[in-house]
Amino acid sequence: PAEPVKPIVVRDEAEDVDDGKKRVTIFFGTQTGTAEGFAKALAEEARARYEKAIFKIVDLDEYAADDDEYEEKMKKETLALFFLATYGDGEPTDNAARFYKWFTEGQERGVWLQNLQFAVFGLGNRQYEHFNKVGKVVDEILADQGGKRLVPVGLGDDDQCIEDDFNAWKELVWPEFDQLLRDEDDASGASTPYQAAIPEYRIVFIDSADASFMEKNWNLANGHAVHDIQHPCRADVAVRRELHTPASDRSCIHLEFEISGTGLVYETGDHVGVFTENCIETVEEAERLLGYSSDTYFSIHANEGDGSPRSGGSLAPPFPSPCTLRTALARYADLLSSPKKAALLALAAHASEPSEAERLRFLASPAGKDEYSQWIVASQRSLLEVMAEFPSAKPPLGVFFAAIAPRLQPRYYSISSSPKMAPSRIHVTCALVYGPTPTGRIHKGVCSTWMKHATPLDKGQDCSWAPVFVRQSNFKLPADTSVPIIMIGPGTGLAPFRGFLQERLALKHSGAELGQAILFFGCRNRKMDFIYEDELNNFVEAGALSELIVAFSREGPTKDYVQHKMTEKASELWHIISNGGYIYVCGDAKGMARDVHRVLHTIVQEQGSLDNSKAESMVKSLQMEGRYLRDVW
Ligand code: 2AM
Repeated sequence: PAEPVKPIVVRDEAEDVDDGKKRVTIFFGTQTGTAEGFAKALAEEARARYEKAIFKIVDLDEYAADDDEYEEKMKKETLALFFLATYGDGEPTDNAARFYKWFTEGQERGVWLQNLQFAVFGLGNRQYEHFNKVGKVVDEILADQGGKRLVPVGLGDDDQCIEDDFNAWKELVWPEFDQLLRDEDDASGASTPYQAAIPEYRIVFIDSADASFMEKNWNLANGHAVHDIQHPCRADVAVRRELHTPASDRSCIHLEFEISGTGLVYETGDHVGVFTENCIETVEEAERLLGYSSDTYFSIHANEGDGSPRSGGSLAPPFPSPCTLRTALARYADLLSSPKKAALLALAAHASEPSEAERLRFLASPAGKDEYSQWIVASQRSLLEVMAEFPSAKPPLGVFFAAIAPRLQPRYYSISSSPKMAPSRIHVTCALVYGPTPTGRIHKGVCSTWMKHATPLDKGQDCSWAPVFVRQSNFKLPADTSVPIIMIGPGTGLAPFRGFLQERLALKHSGAELGQAILFFGCRNRKMDFIYEDELNNFVEAGALSELIVAFSREGPTKDYVQHKMTEKASELWHIISNGGYIYVCGDAKGMARDVHRVLHTIVQEQGSLDNSKAESMVKSLQMEGRYLRDVW
């Protein structure tokens, strides 16, 4: 894949000067901004503690243009911290992918990091199989290649309170830094307690009466050289269709984005990232709680000193402005996730009612840990619900957008079409996220709700559109079309396989010889959620799919799942696997993919008459060879 052209890095003149100052590099691999936020928070506190040292925050992608430069620069590092998030099937974040690949494939470098002292904090979620894999792997290799580990790798768990994990890990780092960074002539013993400042953007209100304004929008210059998360591209909704029958009490949407003329391209198996908006009720509630009117018109600016590379330099604003408050809340603010502890502290700082401020501070304190995990996390209390409980907390907009509401993130979907069949469309198969939370609120997923109500082109009105971009994946069909494949994808896990089957059909039409293909699909009930039933049957008839095996989980007295069907087919699956075939799994990582993995292991063990560890190493090598691929979330 073509790399986007790198901006010319302006070298920090101070970098190579030997002024006797100690230098610390703080690397981050971030997807949604949490790792970057921790890196910044640690740097800020460290700067206050160790005035004579220099702390530099570095985006791993921007650190080096190629492998050689990674090596050359890493060699010179003497003290480094790494904040590394793990995603999906144990993968690094997009901005750490190049570094991770280079670093993990470099066994031949031997022991070359003797000058480096380091510490790693990983960000992950214990519900997933590869909990904090990236952090653990980098920590191990750093040590193997000669680095000196200052503190054990931190294992941040987003399933609980990752801020607490970070704070606990930070407390292990300070004593080490005290040793390394404190001046000999510094008599002041232990570090003084540190109170983090609440970050704030600078807001300039604009009188909308005299503003002949055009709201600044996404950089939507369609035809842009590359479309990525920073440069999404406007795509119209061409088709929207419900896939469940009226008998179902849930909803699953088939949506098609029109991409002709946009410059967007994709391959079968890729993901599409979609930015959408909070619904109007959510936005109005936020306006009410903040106490501003919806047509408040403003521009937003980073304060001096916020030298985040991710925000593009020292003066980059967090989102395009000027805009109305309504736009800012709809597009850029995550209002429905549970607030982090730092957000509670920022709210407390602006609560005029002392009892409210006190309770907010308690919730964010170590003493309030259980209360926080019950009242906020387990109750799935949204930011807006929390703000409603503390009506005197009226933060200024600059604080709200910097410290309270995180940026609304794009949602990723496995593309359910093939460009061979649908060159000018990206198809999405999206289950509606909708249901009551423990507090009785009805949680409506931001993007799926938007998709459910999107107006398609064929309705003859103004159609809905969204900024989108394509993220490449390695979930790809074998290059040799005659290699047999096994696909396992219950529910919306079917999405990429619909793309695979479209691709195979197109290949067949163009004369390719197709190997065997078996699809295991699972749903609740044939009459409710057997999505794309006709299409799947057509794929069988047309010879793109050899066998369609469906597990219905709620038709009979007992649950029938895809892995049960796999067990019934054990010998056939073994035959495919031991003859060079590929296995693909797509769908829920926490339940389904885990269970399927276990069953696969059992099949290999029993059918191959292997002992437990031999079976395990066989499954591992399938993964290493890229013959066992997973697209899970
Ligand atoms: P259930 O809702 O009846 O439990 C798509 O979501 C299908 O996957 C549904 O039929 C669902 O069944 C099923 N499913 C739920 N958990 C699963 C698991 N751990 N393994 C395989 N399938 C599962």
